[in-house]
Amino acid sequence: MNTLETGAGLSTIIFAANGCQHTCIIPDKALADRVQDYCRSASIDTSNVRFIISKSCDVIHQVSRSAYDLILIDGCHGFPSVFVDFCYATKALKLGGALMIDDMHIYTCNLIACFMQSDPGWNVELMTYRFAVGIKISDTIDKEWASQPFVVRRSAGAPRFARLLNNLLTHGTRLTAKKILGRVLGF
Ligand SMILES: C[S@@+](CC[C@H](N)C(=O)[O-])C[C@H]1O[C@@H](n2cnc3c(N)ncnc32)[C@H](O)[C@@H]1O
Repeated sequence: MNTLETGAGLSTIIFAANGCQHTCIIPDKALADRVQDYCRSASIDTSNVRFIISKSCDVIHQVSRSAYDLILIDGCHGFPSVFVDFCYATKALKLGGALMIDDMHIYTCNLIACFMQSDPGWNVELMTYRFAVGIKISDTIDKEWASQPFVVRRSAGAPRFARLLNNLLTHGTRLTAKKILGRVLGF
């Protein structure tokens, strides 16, 4: 099985122990060495594990496309790194491959999982408080926002309505409900 992960740790050891052809992207060489030392001490073969010592957002665009059966995103969880990981991990995944996102309690990770839940390109098989697993069923990653229900639901009219409501509550304007509705609906 061809696997990829951003970040490293126990997960890397599990991939190695299961004989995966594994690529691990991690900026911390000392951690990669520790993982390899541990595997050696536990007689776990790491000859199929390749470490790329770098921040994932600097290199993940270079990994092979449609090549991986399973990808774990568990590196930098900050904005926008985790989204860069998601974009290129999606391209690197085979159709039918699985994407695992760890740390659902972190807003950025949760946002990705929620996007996948509403996107026609994914079947989210599992979503818990800690992690989500989505199966890639079609290539939708480069689609425009208008074909992404997740984005449309959060866009149409909502910002305008929120601005008007905020104005009304903050400044006590004398707009009637009819006028507000007129503005929201654009007449
Ligand atoms: C939550 S830990 C990963 C835990 C690991 N999956 C495990 O099972 O033990 C996050 C990892 O991301 C790594 N990391 C931090 N910034 C990164 C980046 N920009 N690119 C890739 N990995 C990064 C950290 O060194 C750390 O190993």
